[in-house]
Amino acid sequence: MLVSIDDLRRQARRRLPRAVFDFIDGGAEDEVTLRRNHAAFGRLTFRPRVLVDTRARDQSTTVLGQRVASPLVLAPTGLCGMAAPRGEVLAARAALQTGTIFTLSSMSAVSIEDVMRDAPGPHWFQLYVWRDRELTRSLVERAAAAGYRAMVLTVDVPVLGQRERDLRNGATIPPRITWRNAFETAQKVAWVLGMLRNPRIDFVNVARPRQAHGPLALGSFVNSQFDPSVSWDDLTWFRSIWSGPLALKGIMSAEDARRAVDRYGIEAVVVSNHGGRQLDGLPAAIEVLPEVVDAVGGRAEVLLDGGVRRGTDVVKALSLGARACMIGRPYLYGLGAAGQAGVERAIGILRAEIDRAQALLGYPSLGDIDRAAVRLPPTWPLGD
Ligand code: FNR
Repeated sequence: MLVSIDDLRRQARRRLPRAVFDFIDGGAEDEVTLRRNHAAFGRLTFRPRVLVDTRARDQSTTVLGQRVASPLVLAPTGLCGMAAPRGEVLAARAALQTGTIFTLSSMSAVSIEDVMRDAPGPHWFQLYVWRDRELTRSLVERAAAAGYRAMVLTVDVPVLGQRERDLRNGATIPPRITWRNAFETAQKVAWVLGMLRNPRIDFVNVARPRQAHGPLALGSFVNSQFDPSVSWDDLTWFRSIWSGPLALKGIMSAEDARRAVDRYGIEAVVVSNHGGRQLDGLPAAIEVLPEVVDAVGGRAEVLLDGGVRRGTDVVKALSLGARACMIGRPYLYGLGAAGQAGVERAIGILRAEIDRAQALLGYPSLGDIDRAAVRLPPTWPLGD
């Protein structure tokens, strides 16, 4: 039975070839930050209010001015299509069905325009800054023309983190069947058939550089194409080419949050360590949330991602001042387990868990929740 996000993870592991599952599931180097993201939620405990009338419970809110049925946004994840063919479209449809928001990664396997055509909705677009600034500008213009509502600029990938599972698996884009993985891949019949029936997985929003036409390692592609010189000064340029709401994703300190909001008028910051896939050794996102919320002081919205696997994790993040949580792997597990229905299931599980936590905690409206609803451990951020 698929009753928890962890069940979806197990199901995805059964259905996906190992290299694909590991690409989704893995993190950087020793995966310390990856594990810590979720573990840190376990160190936070609740302070419930009893004898509160909780018959009418409401978890809807707004994020960057958009109404959502639950405080959840699907995080940008590159190459969703590895988990299920046309995965971006399936995930976008699931977000529409469940009243949440889908964020399309610039590294998607379905194009900016095709996602909007096949799943029209108030989606967001995530951008990496490419060395080729005209290409960067054209991605922004295409997203605006297609009707994406907000831009999420990811600022924690000057180079790609070292994901050792991918290196060991020899993972490439598009996935390649080699003598080493042939036997194991052949057993994942449904996945293989899906891939054979659909266009080959690739980064479709950008033309491949001339030298890279065959299967390539993600690291070398990213490191040759992304601009490691991007700095705060570029935000002024970026503001001039995108007029909608802007979120900076990958903020992990009060100083950076304050600078983003006070000097550049950023509308939202996403406290995120990229799900533990970039710099290993960062604290959990939830540990950093309070200092960022304090620094921003209500002048921008604060979102959080990393390690959210339960509705109670979402409620804890909201208690510490987050407006909503982004989820990455939870919906990718759903996608790998059962396509669009699996993504809807992932969101439905979290939604039901949030609702139950509201009743048990005595907060029928999540708008009322604040730090009084949680207890921070005596050493927070966590001492080791
Ligand atoms: C990501 N993430 C990511 N972030 C981003 O800004 N652009 C991207 O293209 C990707 N790609 C990507 C692929 C995969 C397979 C994963 C798992 C993650 C990071 C993502 O947006 C988010 O920050 C994390 O996934 C949040 O952590 P959880 O929810 O996965 O624990």
